[in-house]
Amino acid sequence: MGKILAVASGKGGTGKSTCTVGLGAALNKMGKSVLLVDMDQGLRSLDSMLGLSEHMAFDISDALEGRVQVSEAILPIEGRGGLFMLGAPRTAGAVKDEEKLRKLITGLAGVYDYVILDSPAGIGRGFDLAVCAAQAAAVVTGSDFVSIRDAGIVYRLLCEKGVSECRLIINMVKIRLIRGGFLPNIDRAIDTSGMRLLGLIPEDDSLLMFSSAGAVPSKGKAVSAFERLAARIEGQTVPLPKKIKPF
Ligand SMILES: Nc1ncnc2c1ncn2[C@@H]1O[C@H](COP(=O)(O)OP(=O)(O)O)[C@@H](O)[C@H]1O
Ligand SMILES: [Mg+2]
Repeated sequence: MGKILAVASGKGGTGKSTCTVGLGAALNKMGKSVLLVDMDQGLRSLDSMLGLSEHMAFDISDALEGRVQVSEAILPIEGRGGLFMLGAPRTAGAVKDEEKLRKLITGLAGVYDYVILDSPAGIGRGFDLAVCAAQAAAVVTGSDFVSIRDAGIVYRLLCEKGVSECRLIINMVKIRLIRGGFLPNIDRAIDTSGMRLLGLIPEDDSLLMFSSAGAVPSKGKAVSAFERLAARIEGQTVPLPKKIKPF
């Protein structure tokens, strides 16, 4: 997949920010330098999830408007050499200029191995801006039909924008409900969304605990899943573990 990767979804709360952090941390563990960019203007998540809210003096809009150098707005994540964050503005609409934004993000891709863009939910202006520089996208869905159908809608929009290298992440997978036939199975999710699968992330309460504590998740079944996804992004063939193969 491309090195400027957007993490998007149709439905809100599917786990985009969690996947941004999880994938970024896993790629970083593989030795890659990774910049996580919060594109959720007005709402923001990454600063809080990464324990950086107190340290965030500048955001991406300050860099775009020339108030500071972009390097002054980028914060290192403690204990994770090579993992960085660029925060979103407090005010929705502070970033408007798609051309300027594309230039900035494209420039940053020359500095880091991966730039991961955490998109807002939905398909409005925020989405257009968040994906304007993307070379590839991971579209995050829950296991429910509406979320999967919305992922398909986002995929078609991404294709129209020329971002055709898109993969599906099914997050918070509830294996028992899928096996019981109460939720669409993975084959149906792939058919409905139209995308190839990047991977499955199981439901894992430790993610909630890490994000509330403002720390990068470092262990648990979801972390192992993110490591499998990161290896696939890096071009490795990693089969789904038998335990979570729900078909
Ligand atoms: N795999 C998972 N297991 C358990 N909780 C999860 C998982 N993925 C996300 N969550 C939780 O779901 C909530 C929404 O996730 P978030 O990443 O903020 O979604 P989004 O960015 O799409 O709005 C958060 O409380 C997060 O900790
Ligand atoms: Mg989010």
